[in-house]
Amino acid sequence: MYEGLKHAHSGLRWVVLVLLILAVVGAYRSWKGGAAGSKMPLFAMIAAHIQLLLGLGLYFISPYVKFTEGFMKDPLLRFYSIEHIAMMLLAIITITIGYSRAKSKPTDAARGRTVYMYYLIALLLVLLAIPWPFRGLGAGWF
Ligand code: HEM
Repeated sequence: MYEGLKHAHSGLRWVVLVLLILAVVGAYRSWKGGAAGSKMPLFAMIAAHIQLLLGLGLYFISPYVKFTEGFMKDPLLRFYSIEHIAMMLLAIITITIGYSRAKSKPTDAARGRTVYMYYLIALLLVLLAIPWPFRGLGAGWF
C-alpha cells in the first residue's frame, strides 16, 4: 500500500510537470498570439488534484511525516511534514484559482494571460518543492 502509493505519487510528478508546462506555453500563445485556448489548463488542474489526493494518503502513512520532539531540526522530517505539503498546497490552490478566474474572462487573450500568470507561479513552486535526487532527501527520479 505505502510502496504503491509512493510510486504512483512519484511517477505522477512527471505528468503534472509536463501538463503544467504545456498549459503555460499554450496560455502564453493565446495571450500574445491570439491562439484559441485549449483543454490543457483543465488537464493540468485535474492531474494536480489527483496528486493532492495521493499526497494526502501518503501524508498519513509516511514514516517521514512526524511531529515528534525535534522534528524541525531534522531536514528530512521537516521537508515532508511541513515544507513539501505547504508549498504543494499553495501551488495547487494557485492553479485552481487561476483556472476559475480565467473562465470568467471575456477573450482568449485575457484567459491566456490569466492562466499564464497563475500556472507559471504554480510551476515554479512545484519545481522548488519536489524532492529531486540531488537534494539529498532520499527520493529518486521516478
Ligand atoms: C503537484 C504536487 C506534488 C508533487 C509533484 C509531488 C511530488 C512528490 C515526489 C516526487 C515525492 C518523492 C516520492 C519518492 O520518494 O519517490 C513526494 C513525496 C511525498 N509527497 Fe508529494 N508531491 C505533490 C504534492 C503533495 C501533497 C499536496 C502532499 C500532502 C498532502 C504530498 C505528500 C507527500 C509525502 C508525505 C511524501 C513522502 C513519501 C515518503 O517517501 O514516505 N505531496 N512527492
